[in-house]
Amino acid sequence: MRGKDVTLEGVSITYPNGFTAVKPTSLRIEAGEFFSILGPSGCGKTTILRAVSGFNEPSEGRILIGGEDMAGRGPNARPTALIFQNLALFPLMPVWENVAFGLEARGIGKRERRARAQELLELVALGDQGDKLPSELSGGQRQRVAIARALAVEPAVLLLDEPLSALDLKLRQHMRAELRAIQKKTGVTFIYITHDQGEALTMSDRIAVMNNGVIEQVGTGDDVYSRPRTAFAASFVGEINRIDGRIESVDNGTATIATDLGRFRARNPEQLAPGAQAMLFVRPEAVIPEHGENRIAARLVRRDLEGAFLNLFFEAKGVEFAVHVTNDGAAPEVSGDAPVMLGFAAKQAVILPTGPLARTGQELAAQ
Ligand SMILES: Nc1ncnc2c1ncn2[C@@H]1O[C@H](COP(=O)(O)OP(=O)(O)OP(=O)(O)O)[C@@H](O)[C@H]1O
Ligand SMILES: [Mg+2]
Repeated sequence: MRGKDVTLEGVSITYPNGFTAVKPTSLRIEAGEFFSILGPSGCGKTTILRAVSGFNEPSEGRILIGGEDMAGRGPNARPTALIFQNLALFPLMPVWENVAFGLEARGIGKRERRARAQELLELVALGDQGDKLPSELSGGQRQRVAIARALAVEPAVLLLDEPLSALDLKLRQHMRAELRAIQKKTGVTFIYITHDQGEALTMSDRIAVMNNGVIEQVGTGDDVYSRPRTAFAASFVGEINRIDGRIESVDNGTATIATDLGRFRARNPEQLAPGAQAMLFVRPEAVIPEHGENRIAARLVRRDLEGAFLNLFFEAKGVEFAVHVTNDGAAPEVSGDAPVMLGFAAKQAVILPTGPLARTGQELAAQ
């Protein structure tokens, strides 16, 4: 098997009811890459994937796979295979027949189908499970059968739409490593859709962060986590603290922002100019009591033990601040009103244009 590259050139997708689920998007996914599209429910992830696999056509723009324009080609005429959000194995067929299902339509005889299914089952570490029924397997094993079945037609591009969402947390974490290993072994291009940032960060070569029909940032896990380019990317990928303000001055890649909590200096990747409304972002693990050039006097209101780590929650003039520290005995105790001086380095914080933010689980639950 060998992967192919996938290119989107100005692709937009509008549904018949007039709703544009994907706004004009250009993107290149390299051959053999593990590429994730990460974004909240309803942002357009499945819509993009269905367009790549040929279940719907872009309203504008082109999709190329291995340099070939896919316009007018249905799903069976494309070098892709799709694993749906809710996978469905045939319950009355043994596992190996499930895997070989797509081969029968291609006129391949039973003996060869069986041999090919066996190879694929070995690839997903189910070599001795071929004669069982899907109901006799665990959730993770069934997921691997679905992957083997998708690989049976030798796709150059495997499209995976939240394939782990039905599994429990432990199994999901285990399957991350398995999926990554299968991708490496086969060299097939994987386009993996998820709204779970942990999944995207652990498995992907690169991640596209998507919001409301727009891909806001494409980069490695490090890029999107440590160097977010939009307010949404900063707050969707991992936990982050934020403070509203206005740019006061700029200097050589950094800016100083004036806020209710004081003035802070931080990176200014979007080259915002003095006067601009902006937001300062800093990760909980980048805030350290009594360290760094930026200082905030805050009151410790809660202290949650996580074992090796402590989550400290501070409050300063109505703004909440989360701080993650290692549990080394040096963390402050919750003690009345005495303020603690929090600090962070300018290079560990970023100032970005004010824009839509990711909603937290709590905000979503309150709706
Ligand atoms: N057939 C359709 N007609 C009109 N609108 C649609 C149709 N299918 C999806 N949409 C809308 O398009 C938007 C994107 O849907 P899509 O299924 O791509 O989201 P998603 O990112 O995959 O979400 P989830 O994580 O919940 O699966 C949503 O607002 C959805 O309501
Ligand atoms: Mg979806």
